[in-house]
Amino acid sequence: MQTWLKGPFGGADSPLVAVLDRRRRPFGETFRLRRYHGARNHGSCEKAYMRVLGIESSCDETGVAIYDTRDGLLGQALFSQVDMHARYGGVVPELASRDHVQRVLPLIRQVLAEANTSPEQLDGIAYTAGPGLAGALLVGAGVARALAFGWGIPAVEVHHMEGHLLAPLLEANPPAFPFVALLVSGGHTLLLDAQDLGEYRILGESVDDAAGEAFDKAAKMMGLGYPGGPRIAALAEKGTAGRFRFPRPMTDRPGLDMSFSGLKTFTLNTINDLGGKDVLTEQDQADIALAFEDAAVDTLVIKCRRAVEQTGHKQLVMAGGVSANRSLRARLAEQMKKRGVDVFYPAPQYCTDNGAMIAFAGALRLQAGEQADLPIKVRARWPLTELAAL
Ligand code: KG4
Ligand code: ZN
Repeated sequence: MQTWLKGPFGGADSPLVAVLDRRRRPFGETFRLRRYHGARNHGSCEKAYMRVLGIESSCDETGVAIYDTRDGLLGQALFSQVDMHARYGGVVPELASRDHVQRVLPLIRQVLAEANTSPEQLDGIAYTAGPGLAGALLVGAGVARALAFGWGIPAVEVHHMEGHLLAPLLEANPPAFPFVALLVSGGHTLLLDAQDLGEYRILGESVDDAAGEAFDKAAKMMGLGYPGGPRIAALAEKGTAGRFRFPRPMTDRPGLDMSFSGLKTFTLNTINDLGGKDVLTEQDQADIALAFEDAAVDTLVIKCRRAVEQTGHKQLVMAGGVSANRSLRARLAEQMKKRGVDVFYPAPQYCTDNGAMIAFAGALRLQAGEQADLPIKVRARWPLTELAAL
């Protein structure tokens, strides 16, 4: 705790010292959440906007941002643990938690400074409460709740996938509800009918591996390291079209569910047919990467086509780490254009995990009057359909 108090928060009047001091006082005096009416409320003067600190720590990225409902994104910082986990070929949960502990407070200081914002100017703190790694989530939740408690502002739980879903709304030309949403990350692959904020109906989902997980596993089989998605995508650009053809799982039957684990098996068989991972040339790797990417992208595009036909929506939102994939963006855009459907996705830095999407989703929920109950809960699993509509 001592080291956390160094730097801009280090003085006697520092907010973090204040957090510790206030905690020693009796409950009634310390826990003084401002009465909240959907905007900052100092006495009778209500502001029509809110400034919210967002904290993301569900997996291997510590993301912090400040979003203001009037002025937009004021600051953000991200620390990726990718290099640390790459040695192990995937995320090691205990290492992830420990690293979040070290990063989160310095990042908060950095973002407050960047946003030229003092804690008194914040109206709330949003944090990812799930789904994700329980230990990692607890770090963000604990810090968010302690700061909110000390600063006397409300805290709000954010569903990580709702954060992804709403990230395209941070862009200059945001979509408007209702729309079809394709959420493709390392842990989830979901097709949703998004009717309104918090009103999400699942149209289809992966019955086994998530799309990002399949990219990661296929890359690992080829010895490409972690995370696999960006590496496969980069290699695929040098691939020879048509040398290998992988199946498009579950596209030969009706329905919107998907399956990606078969692509993994196909990748392994192709590698073995060529004599094993150790003898693959760079061209072999590129050709397998292209065949894999083509199959995954085609599968997602076919399911998106069906989802817009089924719902009749004229907007499709794509988000989550895999939505950074250029081939997926290009093919989806081409297919949707033919059907008069507009496609929306976040800027690349908001496709993967980040604090901005959490600050934004949290600001919308706080504005609607939602705030976290007193107990601090995180949920490793949390169906998106359990969210409260706003
Ligand atoms: O949304 P995200 O940052 O974290 C989760 O919530 O899981 O997504 C990470 C996933 C990883 O599986 C990563 O390999 C994949 O997104 N990914 C990509 C690309 N960039 C990241 N997959 C395909 N192509 C990409 N360009
Ligand atoms: Zn994510």
